[in-house]
Amino acid sequence: MRLKNKIALVTGSSQGIGRAIAVRFAQEGADVVINYNRTATGAEEALAEVEAAGRRGLIVQADLGKVADIRRLINTAAEHFGRLDVLVNNAGLETHAPFWEVTEEDYDKVLNVNLKGVFFAAQEMVRHLRATNRRGKIVNISSVHEELPFPNFSAYCASKGGVKMLTRNLAVELGPLGININNIAPGAIETPINTKLLNDPMKLNALLGQIPLGRLGQTGDVASVAVFLASDDADYVTGSTYYVDGGLTWNYEEQ
Ligand code: BGC
Repeated sequence: MRLKNKIALVTGSSQGIGRAIAVRFAQEGADVVINYNRTATGAEEALAEVEAAGRRGLIVQADLGKVADIRRLINTAAEHFGRLDVLVNNAGLETHAPFWEVTEEDYDKVLNVNLKGVFFAAQEMVRHLRATNRRGKIVNISSVHEELPFPNFSAYCASKGGVKMLTRNLAVELGPLGININNIAPGAIETPINTKLLNDPMKLNALLGQIPLGRLGQTGDVASVAVFLASDDADYVTGSTYYVDGGLTWNYEEQ
């Protein structure tokens, strides 16, 4: 049990990577706050899985694109369990369009959740930790696209590049408070965010050809690294990005 009696909040944990992290955290001994925006049924299922692991859970609806929602989420979570030790900024979305067709609405949708949401959730978590005079851990679920270009996903890349620098900056600023912050950069993981790709055999095979480990990632592949970064084992780790991508990022083969 690597997270025994820790209290963790995982944003966007009704499905995909966030849900896998919430459940794995519970299996490692943590009580978990589950957050969703629209998929209430997924949150209920995640809660049942957390409870099946013998831990307590709490569901809080909040739109991570809205700062008022974020503050309510963190404060409700901290009040319910008495404190928060770990924040996982997982909620995120992407929209597909050539750069010259991206609308202001789509840009705002992506940046508000993926970057502004991470910024203000981290801020509220830090305020909570300072107010209670405790150390803590923040884990951001970024993407290989904090580093790699992804044509037709320019807003997504801008948001993830922002998360990369935010993490580096906060590692320096929050280190003296005993707060660690790191990113996980998943590659192609089988989750609802890439349903379209998963249903397009041509694109999928081309992608698989670029993954040295020869398979898509599973949500559990990401959850195991999140457990490490949230645990005391990572006490001396901050400001880093952990790639969970089967080798995708550094694989360039001249065709
Ligand atoms: C994106 C996926 C994409 C993967 C690999 C992720 O960040 O959300 O849509 O398949 O990166 O390119």
